[in-house]
Amino acid sequence: MDMDAETTLRAVSEYYGKTLQSSSDLKTTACCPVGGVPADHRAILARLHPEVTARFYGCGSPIPAHMDGCRVLDLGCGTGRDVFLASALVGPSGSVTGVDMTTEQLDVARKHLDYHAKEFLGGAPSNVRLVQGVIESLAEAGVADGSMDVVISNCVCNLSPDKQAVFSGVAAALAPGGEFYFSDIYASTRLSAEAQKHPVLVGECLGGALYFGDFLRTMAAAGLGDVRVVSAAPVALTDTTLAPLVPGVSFYSVTIRAFKLPPGVAEPSPEDYGQTATYDGSLKGAADELVFDAHYTFPTGVAVPVDGNTAAVLRASRFGPTFTVTDAGWHRGLAGPPGAEAGWYAAMSKVMAGAFPSPPTAEGVTGDAGLGDGCCPPATAEANGDGAAAASGGCGPPPATSGDAGAKASSGGGCCPPPASAAKSGGGCGNGAAKKGGCC
Ligand SMILES: C[S@@+](CC[C@H](N)C(=O)[O-])C[C@H]1O[C@@H](n2cnc3c(N)ncnc32)[C@H](O)[C@@H]1O
Repeated sequence: MDMDAETTLRAVSEYYGKTLQSSSDLKTTACCPVGGVPADHRAILARLHPEVTARFYGCGSPIPAHMDGCRVLDLGCGTGRDVFLASALVGPSGSVTGVDMTTEQLDVARKHLDYHAKEFLGGAPSNVRLVQGVIESLAEAGVADGSMDVVISNCVCNLSPDKQAVFSGVAAALAPGGEFYFSDIYASTRLSAEAQKHPVLVGECLGGALYFGDFLRTMAAAGLGDVRVVSAAPVALTDTTLAPLVPGVSFYSVTIRAFKLPPGVAEPSPEDYGQTATYDGSLKGAADELVFDAHYTFPTGVAVPVDGNTAAVLRASRFGPTFTVTDAGWHRGLAGPPGAEAGWYAAMSKVMAGAFPSPPTAEGVTGDAGLGDGCCPPATAEANGDGAAAASGGCGPPPATSGDAGAKASSGGGCCPPPASAAKSGGGCGNGAAKKGGCC
């Protein structure tokens, strides 16, 4: 790990170990849970030790259905709120491992191990293991490859200086068909270098929030490209000293599920092979229907048309025995929006009841609220080489940001077309001439 990364880890640990003493010390609403909590989870949460819940800094409810007997890993478990909730749900035949780097946080969780074992496991020995370590090196924290059925995390991955290492480590830790189910904060744009280093923005889970597109690419590179949005809500940035540091950026708290499929099985877009999935209604708390993600709710006994990726997920995962999934037939074409980004916009828009901005189009940004002042500022003549895009009102490259995110941006990532030279040689869109020709 490089010096910068170690400095970030130390600063984050200091923030959660010393600066914050309870949830009421938070300066923003980023680390405040959003989204509904199922009734059976609420009943368990009400029985947690108050010292544990007093220092809960999560931003969602990353506890999936159907966890009995599962081996669960919680990344950045803090004082253990989700660890003890999961411990009750997996029961004595399951296990929960919580990893956190901050002594003060883990001390609270350790102090109440026996209390929660008595409360939830009827006197059986605790099924919880707490490990001090960093989530970028799960193997060093004693998490063996393929040893976990479910990995959860609540508002932690944004704090990591090496998110690729975290997601790749999760993919390695998961057993085949295992699930990464987590809540975190995401940003509508890449943040400035200043915002990414601001200690309070970082500590409050905003400075390290990934831009959606970068998040999807990082997950895909880790082998977890089939990202499913479960729930989402905007994060209000009301602090008047912090808001000016992130002008035009919208933050969202999102709960995601992504399953580990065999390499090459997940396709980049949802494709229709005429398959259906029928849920048998046998899961606890889901007798009438199983809400799976933004797009799929399975009413009991109903054959629901599913895309190829969803069919593969249902078959490979712990949900397999509760579904009848028909075999793939001939390919009918796309079953939904093409590509990860379009899928993200569609899912976010659905779970936020249309309050999420529409994606930018080839003709320019939508102008909807939420994408700030436009994600594609007009290009300068220097930036575009010929100035045609600026003259035609087209959009140009975003301002440079720090690190490799900036490098990706200037090579044409996101909605912003690449410089004219690249567009010309590739025959694609991105300069005034191409735009007029309607290639996009
Ligand atoms: C926002 S708090 C969330 C804690 C807990 N998940 C909850 O919901 O209350 C972030 C926690 O992640 C831990 N953390 C942050 N970055 C970490 C890293 N790279 N490795 C291990 N723990 C980390 C911090 O020590 C802190 O306890």
